[in-house]
Amino acid sequence: MAKKQIEPPVPADMMPQHIAIIMDGNGRWAKKRGMPRTFGHVQGAKTFHKLLRHAREIGVKYMSFYAFSTENWKRPDDEVHALMNLFRQYVKLAYKYFDDRVRVVLLGDKQDFEPDLQKMFTDLEHDTGEFEKMTAGIAANYGSRREITDAAKRIARLVQDGKLQPDDITEELFAQHLYTAGMPDVDLMIRPGGEQRLSNFLLWQCAYAEFYFCDTLFPDFNGDELDKAIVEFARRTRRFGGL
Ligand code: IPE
Ligand code: IPE
Ligand code: MG
Repeated sequence: MAKKQIEPPVPADMMPQHIAIIMDGNGRWAKKRGMPRTFGHVQGAKTFHKLLRHAREIGVKYMSFYAFSTENWKRPDDEVHALMNLFRQYVKLAYKYFDDRVRVVLLGDKQDFEPDLQKMFTDLEHDTGEFEKMTAGIAANYGSRREITDAAKRIARLVQDGKLQPDDITEELFAQHLYTAGMPDVDLMIRPGGEQRLSNFLLWQCAYAEFYFCDTLFPDFNGDELDKAIVEFARRTRRFGGL
């Protein structure tokens, strides 16, 4: 039987180019079921994978997933450890889905990961680097303030070395030093899980993003929920400061 084609929820010209999602609520989802928080992360990871494939099917070109923040290291060791192992598992899984032609870009500072995981991420970025169907940004050890500070440092060094003049520093040049270099600004920022905050995610890139919050805990956030957010996005009027 032929595979059922998934229809985009809105016409192609009304689709957001870049969607970002804060994958929040895994712990509470598990707690509600009397299970350990790590079980919520296992379910959340499954949801992530389904959502990524759904987004690809409906023609989303860029999607960034907040998986682990620079602040999340504060969590208990066993939870952090479980999350690191999920990263390992899903990097391996990505190789089984090569036919999907999804380019993976790691948003975050790899240096704080164990050496084997650093290498896995670097290899995956390299091995998917030419894929053109969709770009998936995986925000792991991501913090927007760290990203912006690091960009400033790198630019300062270029100036110090005489490779750049202070007046050469434009918004475009600055953006090229962020992890999201080459990706468009975020059009639609989604946060499931009931909280209404950014938690240090893509502060620069969200300057004119539309925000969508919902109470669904991330493990339950499925393709239909994503479609709903996109339909709501398409209803909004964006002015970018104009009239
Ligand atoms: C989001 O779910 C996943 C990560 C931050 C790694 P949480 O773990 O924050 O789940 P809640 O918010 O405690 O329910
Ligand atoms: C944001 O969720 C980070 C990720 C989803 C990866 P948190 O659960 O860490 O955010 P706060 O602590 O509620 O702001
Ligand atoms: Mg949370």
